[in-house]
Amino acid sequence: MRLSAAPASALSSATPLLVLLVDSAARGKLPGGALGARAATLIRGGAFKAEPRKTLLLHAESRGGARVLLLIGMGKAADLSAEDFRRAGAIAGSQAAELGAGALVLGTAGAVDFDSDRLQAAGEGLVLSGYRYPGKQDAAASTPPKKAAVASSVRGAAAVLAAAQALGEGANLVRELGDLPGNTVTPRHLARTAQAVARKGRLRCRVHGRRDLQRMKMGGILAVNQGSAEEPFLIEMEYVGARPKATLCIVGKGLTFDSGGISLKPADKMEDMKYDMCGGAATIGLMQALAVLRPPGLRVIGIVGTTDNMPGPSAYKPGDVVRTASGKTIEVINTDAEGRIVLADALFHARKFKPDAIIDLATLTGAIVVALGSEVAGLFCKDDALAGRLLAAGERTGEKLWRMPTYEAYAEKIKSRVADVKNSSGREAGSCTAAAFLFTFTEGVPHAHLDIAGTAWDGRRRDYHVEGGSGFGVRLLYDALLHWDD
Ligand code: BES
Ligand code: MN
Ligand code: ZN
Repeated sequence: MRLSAAPASALSSATPLLVLLVDSAARGKLPGGALGARAATLIRGGAFKAEPRKTLLLHAESRGGARVLLLIGMGKAADLSAEDFRRAGAIAGSQAAELGAGALVLGTAGAVDFDSDRLQAAGEGLVLSGYRYPGKQDAAASTPPKKAAVASSVRGAAAVLAAAQALGEGANLVRELGDLPGNTVTPRHLARTAQAVARKGRLRCRVHGRRDLQRMKMGGILAVNQGSAEEPFLIEMEYVGARPKATLCIVGKGLTFDSGGISLKPADKMEDMKYDMCGGAATIGLMQALAVLRPPGLRVIGIVGTTDNMPGPSAYKPGDVVRTASGKTIEVINTDAEGRIVLADALFHARKFKPDAIIDLATLTGAIVVALGSEVAGLFCKDDALAGRLLAAGERTGEKLWRMPTYEAYAEKIKSRVADVKNSSGREAGSCTAAAFLFTFTEGVPHAHLDIAGTAWDGRRRDYHVEGGSGFGVRLLYDALLHWDD
């Protein structure tokens, strides 16, 4: 879907579909010519109360103006958030697809009005609603509109909608990589995707294969990969904006399938483990958005460690001791706690860029799903300034974070008798000990760990989300980066 900015006058132009966001107290005239007048009558008569997310559809009897008018209720205009506009944008896009409209004009009416944040959110909702699962050509699936013009009097609306476009498409790329099966999205596929994104966006990109990992002594990634028939990769992408002042490393867990390895997972829901690369995918999606929007002042390096976790004949085993690139050794207690082992090497690699901060995204623990569900991701960070930036971005973008404890007691729990750390200390505080494990490899560098095991995908359908990958992290991190100097 192509977004474009339009003046308020676009609301009275000819279009297959006009969508108006309207509040419950809307009085008087509505734009949209004869259809608008009919809608206004219905509102006045109480037939349409414009309650949040309720819709009203009117079809034109005569030519000219809009063929179809869709009203989307926004409730009380006084307490609207950007998130409400994101949802409304998604409703507009989905309804347009249902109607088979190739294009739409979206605007506001009554006391509802865009500002820059709301406009961006509505644009994001439109683009997110256009996502379709790529694997199967479903005859019943609706086709999203090709074009959406958003009418507003916001200054710089074109740039705002360009941001919405790039962020929506970045998230949709993440969703696609998550939703596609593990035999399509292999480590090599993830690496090729990163290369394609880099080529198109003129980013530097290096893909380190098995030989490189051996040379760099990345015994962590290599150990997790031992039971697999796939080659492991460390993907590195770099964006350099104008006059870079800060260097940030984004590190993603890219497990294209996590069977648990020798500590095999139960069969029930094991198929969901194709999503175990969503942290890596979000890193690639973010780099794509950066490449399109090119914000100044930043150098951002995206790093993805990718393999699958399989119980093949040479698989690593419980009891093994693994030496990582940092020189630190890991006692493997449970081969299913593999993400942290891959990240140990990826995080250590990030240090080479002398970053001001490292942020990792990982579907790391089932425990965070139990604690926070699919609504909020766990934020683990010992640096208050960095945590504050991310929490603020979470509030602004609706990709919410909740700060979790990082006490030394968790680091105590993962001490090993035979190595520097062990990769599991059981179920108790599982997400916190996992975070403590990661911090072992980033000592001295501000580091935020986002456990996105719950937020990366969701089996429910609501507004801009359909069953499957959510694309979590692209909007959040882009926003955090953009406000880095605040
Ligand atoms: N990828 C999983 C975490 C996960 C679980 C993500 C459920 C999404 C939904 C991770 O590799 C894992 O298996 N973690 C184990 C760690 C345990 C063995 C210490 C877990 O959470 O059970
Ligand atoms: Mn696992
Ligand atoms: Zn995993």
